[in-house]
Amino acid sequence: MNIDLINKRRIFGIISHPDAGKTTLTEKLLLHGGAIREAGTVRARKNSKYAKSDWMEIEKQRGISVTSSVMQFEYDNRVISIMDTPGHNDFGEDTYRILTSVDSAVMVIDAAKGIEAQTKKLFEVCSMRGIPIFTFINKLDRQSMDPLESMQELEEVLGMPSVAVTWPIGCGKEFEGIYDRLENVVHLFRKDDNIQLDEDGVHGSKLEGVLNPANLSNLRYAMELLDGAGNEFDIELIKLGKLSPVFFGSALADFGITPFLKHFLVMSPAPGIRKTTTGEVSPLDETFSGFIFKIQANMNPAHRDRLAFLRICSGTFERGMNVTLTRTGKQMKLSQSTHLMANERETVDVAYAGDVIGIYDSGTFQIGDSITNGKEKIFFEPLPTFPPELFMRVSAKNSLKGKNFQKGVEQLAQEGAIQVYRNEYNEVILGAVGVLQFEVFEYRLVNEYNTDIRMENVDFTVARWVKTDNPNSLKQYQNSRCMVVYDRFDRPVLLFTNEYALRSFQDRYEDVELVEALDIN
Ligand code: G4P
Repeated sequence: MNIDLINKRRIFGIISHPDAGKTTLTEKLLLHGGAIREAGTVRARKNSKYAKSDWMEIEKQRGISVTSSVMQFEYDNRVISIMDTPGHNDFGEDTYRILTSVDSAVMVIDAAKGIEAQTKKLFEVCSMRGIPIFTFINKLDRQSMDPLESMQELEEVLGMPSVAVTWPIGCGKEFEGIYDRLENVVHLFRKDDNIQLDEDGVHGSKLEGVLNPANLSNLRYAMELLDGAGNEFDIELIKLGKLSPVFFGSALADFGITPFLKHFLVMSPAPGIRKTTTGEVSPLDETFSGFIFKIQANMNPAHRDRLAFLRICSGTFERGMNVTLTRTGKQMKLSQSTHLMANERETVDVAYAGDVIGIYDSGTFQIGDSITNGKEKIFFEPLPTFPPELFMRVSAKNSLKGKNFQKGVEQLAQEGAIQVYRNEYNEVILGAVGVLQFEVFEYRLVNEYNTDIRMENVDFTVARWVKTDNPNSLKQYQNSRCMVVYDRFDRPVLLFTNEYALRSFQDRYEDVELVEALDIN
């Protein structure tokens, strides 16, 4: 395996709260990489003005991307893949799962609003997995929080040490540019000019008469503080996901993005070693291997075919190659494979570790599956199940359709589209992270399984798996604030009405071991 092919690859996801600027930043990155020619292309997709997507009808109706895809571009001799992480109303478990396939994440924060709820959740998923997180504080062209406060918030709210790589000079109407601390350069806003500073940095005379005196004095003060008491830049800690490099800019004005991209490409990790249940797989291994982290159904409703998203972890993918699905030992030929671009798909013949490709699937794969062309059975570390926060009781409107209903429920649970539990009366309870998961579920049962369903709210918001050798004993805990259900692997789960009910349960039954997330397989 050619090491350069691996080292030039980067694969990352952008995490943010709605409206922080994820779409705008993605678009500007693609413009820089020449992957799109005009601004507006990604936004158009988000607004669905010209959505060519032939995926799910619901995507078109709602004008959103239910599914996620990869946007790949080349920049500075690197092959960069941005994994689209659905946000907004289409936020769901998929959003979390996508993050298991990336090597780093870019966290976009609105400079005026600071860290918001969804950012925090996604941050936690990345941080739990040790994924390096790059922070981009956006919208400096507007009135913003004091950048020192923004840095403090990162540490306090997220508990993540951070180091500023660039620093804003003023904000809003007084926004004059950013200072790149590593390059010792000031990029001037709206002037298309840079000032290379000397060894005195911002304290020298070069900025005098250029910046407004209040901005210059703030910049000097901030640099004194950061140089004296801030975290030191440490590339090893960054690569381990223990220190977040921070950048400032304006995605809308396309300002601060070039320095961000340049530093990001140097600091972010290339595809690395992936853990398996028995050891490790290096991207340089000749043996081909990868894992499925997402299954997208209904590419063509008439055929019920599905697309499995494969993250390649080692070796070279060649179209038509034979591989083994390690879960079942089944051999298969990978003849239909595709790149997953924003709105287009093209057949992919060759791909390498650090690429994500789509494989057409007729129902063979499950989320978390590993495949390889080697003799050794490789199982990549299981993907986590994320605790749902929304629940619905669901049944077929027409009991004669019971069989179709069960089949649909099973299939969608297997795809990971939604979580499915049963209670002691064999009622089906759905669990989701985002509301759209219910809508997609209903749409697909009607359209693919020809079954109208009834969905009713149930008054639970918290799920915890229970570690016990005696699931029957759990019935004693059932009351109006706690219900015992079983997931699709028959593992017991307790649903609580709210955090308060959970806490009082924990206080009362200290010896019952509750866990927030369990591995899928
Ligand atoms: P999202 O994908 O994270 O939800 O955010 P998106 O990029 O769609 O941006 C949300 C809004 O914030 C958009 O305005 C966008 O133009 C604006 N925005 C993004 N980056 C910046 C920035 O750096 N500075 C300023 N001032 N605004 C920014 P909108 O009015 O909601 O949409 P549109 O009418 O511009 O499409």
